[in-house]
Amino acid sequence: MLFPEHKFLCALSVSALCRQLEAASLHVFTAAPKTCRLKAVEAPALCPELSVWGVAMLRHMLQLQCNAQAITTIQQTGSKEKLITDSRQVRLATGLFPVISLLNHSCSPNTSVSFISTSATVRASQQIRKGQEILHCYGPHESRMGVAERHQKLKSQYFFDCNCSPCEREKQSSPKGPGREAFCCHACGALLQGGDVLSCGTASCTESVSRDHLVSRLQNLQQQVGMARKLLRNGKLEQAIQLLLRGQHDAESFLSAEHSMVGEIEDHLARAYAALGDWEKSAAHLQKSLRVVEACHGPFSIEMGHELFKLAQIFFNGFAIPEALNTIQKAEEVLLVHYGPWNDEVQELQKMKSCLLDLPSIPVGPNE
Ligand SMILES: *[C@@H]1O[C@H](CO)[C@@H](O)[C@H](O)[C@H]1NC(C)=O
Ligand SMILES: *[C@@H]1O[C@H](CO)[C@@H](O)[C@H](O)[C@H]1NC(C)=O
Repeated sequence: MLFPEHKFLCALSVSALCRQLEAASLHVFTAAPKTCRLKAVEAPALCPELSVWGVAMLRHMLQLQCNAQAITTIQQTGSKEKLITDSRQVRLATGLFPVISLLNHSCSPNTSVSFISTSATVRASQQIRKGQEILHCYGPHESRMGVAERHQKLKSQYFFDCNCSPCEREKQSSPKGPGREAFCCHACGALLQGGDVLSCGTASCTESVSRDHLVSRLQNLQQQVGMARKLLRNGKLEQAIQLLLRGQHDAESFLSAEHSMVGEIEDHLARAYAALGDWEKSAAHLQKSLRVVEACHGPFSIEMGHELFKLAQIFFNGFAIPEALNTIQKAEEVLLVHYGPWNDEVQELQKMKSCLLDLPSIPVGPNE
């Protein structure tokens, strides 16, 4: 169902547009049919043509949320001097793409859509055999949320019940991939299960703990990481590292190893050590973050591509040549699938590669 607030906003926007059009037509179309030359003050009702247009516009606007496509771009954050860039997907606009709109949805699609300016490119992310359906994802991807949340989102925005293969699979087995957002037992490390009171799955362990308690510990941890992020931004690296290391220790005692918070802490640590020029430590932390990203999003996900790109930069900056070449290749494979060869990161990887391959002519390794 469309929310009433949403419907109301659409109606308001369309009537505002109509008023504007009417005002404009008074100036521009002085030769237009007489019916349109009414003054708003004298005739608060819209002229007849505009009410026909208005109805059509409202109809289209209400359909937008089902049929339009978010135009996204990858925004690089972090300045060049920082040596390690970060990126995230941001929404630029909403566009209409009649051909892409023909594609059906899957929560685990076999294509990836990317944009250069306003042109969209659809790439196969797996081999698609003749006769097989080309599917893309309307947003709720299996790597980002569980089946219940995906169903609710697809139902409320697109009005259908998804029965793609990951949905069918997940409905039959456990509702959500383990680990991603799970708590674990501080005594034996096994995943905790249950509702308000969580208990340990291991037979020999009798630990139990209230969910509220763990949720508030997680919130504290999130706050600490937020503070560390601020310290990082302000260049207070040592302090940030202290805070993050404490957070990492805390996280290990109650979060699963694949918890997204664990990955986030490792990623920040990698960033902090990179800023200090300690490439070795930075790489070690980023590799841990990479394992979490792989568990949460899958080995060929966009998220994995960006994380591999960062690791390649770290190895490159640290002159770890075999590791750098190896990681560049992996990052390239993943990013090419999603963005094609003209992507900035892909080009940057190629530059790094040719630079490393040219190296034997100069002394290998840091000089001191
Ligand atoms: C999308 O799914 C519908 C219903 O199953 C089907 O009729 C249609 O052909 C599919 N579209 C494409 C482009 O395969
Ligand atoms: C494309 O994705 C759909 C849904 O995951 C799957 O059923 C289909 O087999 C895939 N096609 C190929 C060629 O992998």
